[in-house]
Amino acid sequence: MRRGFLRDAIETRSYYERVMDMIRTVNEMQAALSAMRRSGRRVALVPTMGALHEGHAALMRRAREQGAAAVVSIYVNPTQFGPHEDFKQYPRDLGADEQLCNREKVEVVFAPSDDEMYPGDGGSAHAAATWVEETTLSRRFEGERRPGHFRGVCTVVAKLFHIVQPDLAIFGQKDYQQLKVVQRMVRDLRFPIEIFFAPTVREPDGLALSSRNARLSTAERAQAAVLSKALRVAYDLFTEGEQSAHRLEAAMQRTVSLAPVARLDYAQIADGETLEPVANVQHGSVALIAAHVGKVRLIDNAIL
Ligand code: PAJ
Repeated sequence: MRRGFLRDAIETRSYYERVMDMIRTVNEMQAALSAMRRSGRRVALVPTMGALHEGHAALMRRAREQGAAAVVSIYVNPTQFGPHEDFKQYPRDLGADEQLCNREKVEVVFAPSDDEMYPGDGGSAHAAATWVEETTLSRRFEGERRPGHFRGVCTVVAKLFHIVQPDLAIFGQKDYQQLKVVQRMVRDLRFPIEIFFAPTVREPDGLALSSRNARLSTAERAQAAVLSKALRVAYDLFTEGEQSAHRLEAAMQRTVSLAPVARLDYAQIADGETLEPVANVQHGSVALIAAHVGKVRLIDNAIL
C-alpha cells in the first residue's frame, strides 16, 4: 500500500517527487495532459510570452488557488507583432523563466517552437492560412493602433486552448482589452474553458509590471509611472463624484503631459464590457491609457 501511495504521489506530482516538465512539442504536451487528467486535478493554462515577472507569477498563484495543475505556455507569438514592432527586441530568457515557474510550483512549462505552433507555414507564421479573429472588441484602442494584433492573439490563444485543453485559463487585467477579446472568443467558439483574471501587479511607484519595462532607460523608467498616476487621478475624480468622461480624460492627458519623455497615445474612458467610449462614467467603466515612453510603448488601465 505504501509503495502504491508513493507511486501515486510521484505520478500526481505531489510532495515527494515534484518535477516540473519542460515540454517543447504538441505531442509531448498531450501525453503530459493525459497524465495530469489521471491525477484528477483540473488543468489551468497561463499563456505568456516569457520574460516572466511577478505579474505572471500572480496568474500562476491564481491557478493554484483554484486547486488546478498549472501549465504555463511560453511563446513569443510572431503574428501578434506588427512589422515595425518589437518582436526581435522582445526579451527572452527561458532559463530564468523556468526558475520562476519552478518556484511557483507549476506542473508543466510548454515552450513550443514556431514550427509546432504554425506547422506547414514555411517557417513564416505570418504566412499562416488559418486565423481566428474577433471583430468587435478588437477594433478599438490597441486593435486600431496595432492592426492584426488581436487576430494574432486570438489565433495563438485558440491554438493553445486546443493543444492544452485546459479547464480554466488565467489572464491579467493588465491587458484589459485582450482579456475581453479572449472572453468573447471563448463565448463565440464555445470553448469549454472558464476564464479567470488577476489584478495588475505594480512596482511601488505604481508602474504596472511588464516585460517591456526592462527596455526603459533610467530616466524613462523614472517617468514611466506617469501612466498609473494618470489613472489614479481619473479614479480619484470619479470617486469624488465627477461623471464626465471628458473631464477625466482631460485630467489624464494633463498628468501625462507633465512627463517630458512620455508621448500619449490615448487616455479614454470606455464601457467595461463593450469598450465603446462613454460620455458619462459609471461603475464598471474602464479608464484605458497607452503612451510611448522613449521607444517603449506601455499600456495600463483601471476599472472605475
Ligand atoms: P504576456 O505579455 O507575457 O502576458 C501574459 C499574461 O500576463 C497576460 O494575461 C497579461 O495580462 C498578464 N500580465 C502581464 N503583466 C501583468 C501584471 N503586471 N500584472 C498582472 N498580470 C500581468 O499577453 C500576452 O503575453 C500574450 O498576448 C498572450 C496572451 C500570451 C498571447 O500570445
